[in-house]
Amino acid sequence: MSPQPQHASDPASRVAELRARIEDANRRYHGLDAPDITDAEYDALVRELEALEAAHPQLASTESPTRKVGAAPAGRFPPVVHAVPMLSLGNAFDDEEVADFVRRIRERLDREDLAFSAEPKLDGLAISLRYEDGAFVRGATRGDGATGEDVTANLRTIAAIPHALQGRGWPQVLEVRGEVYMARADFERWNEQARLHGGKVLANPRNGAAGSLRQIDPTLTARRPLSFFAYGIGQVEGGTLPDTHSGTLARLREWGFPVSELATVVHGVEGLLGYYRGIGEARDGLPFDIDGVVYKLDDYAGQREMGFVSRAPRWAIAHKFPAQEQTTVVESIEVNVGRTGAVTPWALMQPVQVGGVTVTRATLHNADHVARLDVRAGDTVIVRRAGDVIPEVVQVVADRRPPDAQPWSMPMVCPVCGAEVVREDGAAVWRCSGELSCPAQRVQSVFHFASRRAMDIDGLGERYIESLSELGYLQDVADLYRLTIEDLLEMKRRADERDGTTPAALAKSGVKAGKVASKWADNLIEAIDRSRDTTLARFLFALGIEHVGESTAKALAQWFGDLELIRRLPWPLFKRVPDIGGEVARALGHFLDQPGNQQVIDRLLERGVRIGDSHPPHPKLGEALDLATLLVDLEIPKVTAIRAAQLGTAFADAQALLDAPVHNLVTAGLPAETANALVAWLEDEAHAGVLLRGAQAQAELRARLPARPAQAAGPLEGKTVVLTGTLSAMGRDEAKDRLEALGAKAAGSVSKKTSFVVAGEAAGSKLAKAEELGIEVWDEAKLLAFLERHS
Ligand code: IVH
Repeated sequence: MSPQPQHASDPASRVAELRARIEDANRRYHGLDAPDITDAEYDALVRELEALEAAHPQLASTESPTRKVGAAPAGRFPPVVHAVPMLSLGNAFDDEEVADFVRRIRERLDREDLAFSAEPKLDGLAISLRYEDGAFVRGATRGDGATGEDVTANLRTIAAIPHALQGRGWPQVLEVRGEVYMARADFERWNEQARLHGGKVLANPRNGAAGSLRQIDPTLTARRPLSFFAYGIGQVEGGTLPDTHSGTLARLREWGFPVSELATVVHGVEGLLGYYRGIGEARDGLPFDIDGVVYKLDDYAGQREMGFVSRAPRWAIAHKFPAQEQTTVVESIEVNVGRTGAVTPWALMQPVQVGGVTVTRATLHNADHVARLDVRAGDTVIVRRAGDVIPEVVQVVADRRPPDAQPWSMPMVCPVCGAEVVREDGAAVWRCSGELSCPAQRVQSVFHFASRRAMDIDGLGERYIESLSELGYLQDVADLYRLTIEDLLEMKRRADERDGTTPAALAKSGVKAGKVASKWADNLIEAIDRSRDTTLARFLFALGIEHVGESTAKALAQWFGDLELIRRLPWPLFKRVPDIGGEVARALGHFLDQPGNQQVIDRLLERGVRIGDSHPPHPKLGEALDLATLLVDLEIPKVTAIRAAQLGTAFADAQALLDAPVHNLVTAGLPAETANALVAWLEDEAHAGVLLRGAQAQAELRARLPARPAQAAGPLEGKTVVLTGTLSAMGRDEAKDRLEALGAKAAGSVSKKTSFVVAGEAAGSKLAKAEELGIEVWDEAKLLAFLERHS
């Protein structure tokens, strides 16, 4: 394990050492929101100090951190003296300590049946909220328990905290206490954004909540996604509350405070332990971090009788869960190569129990994250594992670094294929440039291609893909479509050999190896064959293009309708699809610009992949196929929508713009600065190229758009039709579509304006109405004949 600091041997020095260490930890945790030890380590230090003070009463002191709560405020906000001190809680770490807690109360109160309020112990920041005549007037942190900090302005930005109490019956002065916290999903989302855009990455939700509340500028707090749960009360004047804690929680709920749904009343030790186990099982799935549960004697009379010891009540205790953060030592920093070539660092660590699970690997997210934390092999680090999230390294314990630890840097070449590792301008992600020549990317891309929502090839697991790739059967996804049964059997034979599942072993277990394998191969070939018939959306998604998820693929398919068209479009045109922005458009354009990728698509089509749902582009695309839109979509520095519109009117087409000297741009009404920026941009050949390709693509799209009814009037132009009854050859919707395609307008009811009615089987009132008004009626045969003639 990690080198531990040497302990002083005599009790007095050890007590002094522990007090200094705990006070420092308090200051870091409460004052600076930058703890350097885990909660579990902190608890252990406090326990050791408590034990020493108990064994050596001469060493006890009212100044000891065992008698105090938190840390004195750092002075950034005005002080608030708590009318009722904000206390801490004693801890129980096992069943026996819980039983002791109950026994102490039973003996002192001389009562058998004890009711407790059992609640989750949220991991956030304790605060006090003061309401006068129902209005929120002041909010404060706990501080050292006696004096906290006035953070009213920040608390007002939290939506879960009521500005005015609801309902009725509240005391004139009511102080509500509870925990400000950050929900896990909000925390993950926040950090994801911070890692992408270089903001402040939070170590854990608790730090996120605490740091946010202590911002001087409330607008910064407002931006952080904070929540609140009420769990108790402080000062109460001019009114009464129920005589139990659970009754009070119910009232708080009525008055508009969020109170945890998980709070409940239980009886005796068994009730408490049952609650603990239940919440423990639910813990990973909860939307917020909890570090334990809290048991509180439910009746206030009993609470008063029990009273307090130094900093904690005798009527309540926190029963802790295994910590979600632990310290361990990083053995090495490795990288993983994903489907899109993203090279992501992760830490291989000495095994450690985190939240009840053994952890040996933790993500380091990206190179920037490693640099920010300055994690090195040999470092002692804090790892966090909460919920279903992958364990991550959140902090380095600086003073435990071995002197020879070397800073980490991203490998220059891919560890899997040896291709150069590169980073795009401004991006956080490093990528292996090997693309499909990289086995790691190849396996991941085939796995994605075959997945259910992509090409849906059942029975092709990752292990088989690896083996096929290793044996040279799969260079890229197109090779799937030339696999033979023999290839599969050969691969399986070798893979089984390698894994020790020999035919002999199979035979021994009574399985007829040969037959089983050939059935498997038959099925797989059939599944591959079935996947050949697909849709444009599935196909685009299956290609595994960065940022092109299922919904983007669907939108592309819907708007452009045709693979060949999409393959030729330069990136700015993709931005014409609602919800597709610059980042996605560029990623897609980049993918299509790679000749290797285009060849893979060619081979897929040659080997029989058929896209069954091609159609003309969406008519709405026609609305913005002009030079001005293209210039805006190209994201040229200084060329705003207004400037682009000016250029759009001044120049006939992209070529004319390219040929124009600077002064022409100025005559077109552009400020000199914009004109210069545009000229500088156009000097880059790649830029000029994409502008011209964009203009050509616009022209092609225009040509492909479905003809507008006004331009090519259909035979039913100006006619209004009503469809009624059941048609046998096609659905009513299809009939309606086809009539509309010929220019008709379909209406829902028959009137004098109706041109004719199509009546199928069992037509009812609409047919009667048509007959009554003397409107022409078509039967199905007449409709079919008409459609036949005009298709
Ligand atoms: S009761 C005198 N209830 O835990 C009673 N505290 O270690 C004091 N906490 O400062 C608190 N959830 O920040 C209570 N349901 C809950 C709690 C809770 C979280 C925190 C709170 C308190 C600390 C004590």
